[in-house]
Amino acid sequence: MGITIIYDRVRWEEKALFDAANKMSHTVNMIDAKDITIVTHNGNSHNYFDTILQRCISHYRGLYLTACLEFLNKHVINSYHTSEICGNKMLTSLYLKKNNVPTPKTYFAFSAEAANELASKIGYPLVLKPLIGSWGRMVVPIRDQESMEFMIEVREEDQNPLNRIYYLQEFVNRPPRDIRAIVVGEQVITAIYRYAASGEWRTNIARGGKAEVCNITNELEDICIKAAKAVGGGVLGVDLMEDIKNGLVVHEINNTVEFKGAASVSNKDIAASIIEYAIKSERR
Ligand SMILES: Nc1ncnc2c1ncn2[C@@H]1O[C@H](COP(=O)(O)OP(=O)(O)O)[C@@H](O)[C@H]1O
Ligand SMILES: [Mg+2]
Repeated sequence: MGITIIYDRVRWEEKALFDAANKMSHTVNMIDAKDITIVTHNGNSHNYFDTILQRCISHYRGLYLTACLEFLNKHVINSYHTSEICGNKMLTSLYLKKNNVPTPKTYFAFSAEAANELASKIGYPLVLKPLIGSWGRMVVPIRDQESMEFMIEVREEDQNPLNRIYYLQEFVNRPPRDIRAIVVGEQVITAIYRYAASGEWRTNIARGGKAEVCNITNELEDICIKAAKAVGGGVLGVDLMEDIKNGLVVHEINNTVEFKGAASVSNKDIAASIIEYAIKSERR
C-alpha cells in the first residue's frame, strides 16, 4: 500500500513515521507542503496516495492544505473537521464541554473591557492562553489585576485579531506534571507524565519537560477516547491535568502530535501504530 506524508519541517516524528511505513513495506511519498500548489481543475503540482498523513507544524498551512486535499477526495489524517477544532483552544474547550468530557472551567471575552471585568470578577490566579498556539507559547499565569491589565495592553497592540479574543481558564491546582496520551483511532497507544523543568511552570517537552511512563487506567482510557471522539477522532495527543479537586481534566488535544518524548520511555511502537491505523482506516 502507499501513503503520503506531508510536512513543512522534518522532525524526529516524521522520520519515525517514514521508517515505520518502510519497515511495513508500504510505499511512502514524502512531500514538503511548501512546494505544493493545488488547482481546482487539472494541473496539481504533486501526485498523492489516497491516504495522507498531514504533519505540518504550521497550523494554518496544514489546515487549509487539508481542505484542498479533501477537495481532491483524499483521506487526510487528521480531517479538516478535527484539525480545525484541535488547532483552536476555544473550539476544543467548547466541543469537550458539550460532549461531557471533564475539562477546566474556561471563560471567553471579546473586548479588552469585558476581559478585564471578567478577570476581576473570577479572581486570580488565572491562565490566559492564545486561541492558536503550541509548545506553551503565550500560555501565561495571571496572578493579579495589574498583570491582567498589562497582558490586555499587549494583546490590544497585537496585529493579529485572534489575540483580541480572550481565553481565560481557571488555574488548575495540580502536581508539577501533566499527562500526554497518544490516541490512535479508538485506542490509547501510550501515556506519559510530563514533569515541568525546574523553574518552569508549563510541562511541555518543548519547554524541557521530562517524560515518564504513565499507567493507562480505565478512567484515563475512557476520558481519552471520549475526548478524541468529541473532536472528530484521528491521531491525537490528548493532554490532561490531575486536578486535585476534580480529578482528570482534558485541557488540550493536539492535532499533529509530537511523540518523541513518549517514544523515549514507552515500549510501544507509536509510529507503527499510526501508520497501521492510517492504512486501515476507511475512506470517508
Ligand atoms: N489551567 C491551567 N492550570 C494549570 N496549568 C496549566 C493550565 N493550562 C495549561 N497549563 C500548563 O501549561 C502547559 C501548556 O498549556 P496548553 O494549554 O497545553 O498549551 P500548548 O498548546 O501551548 O501546549 C500545559 O501543558 C500545562 O502544564
Ligand atoms: Mg499542550
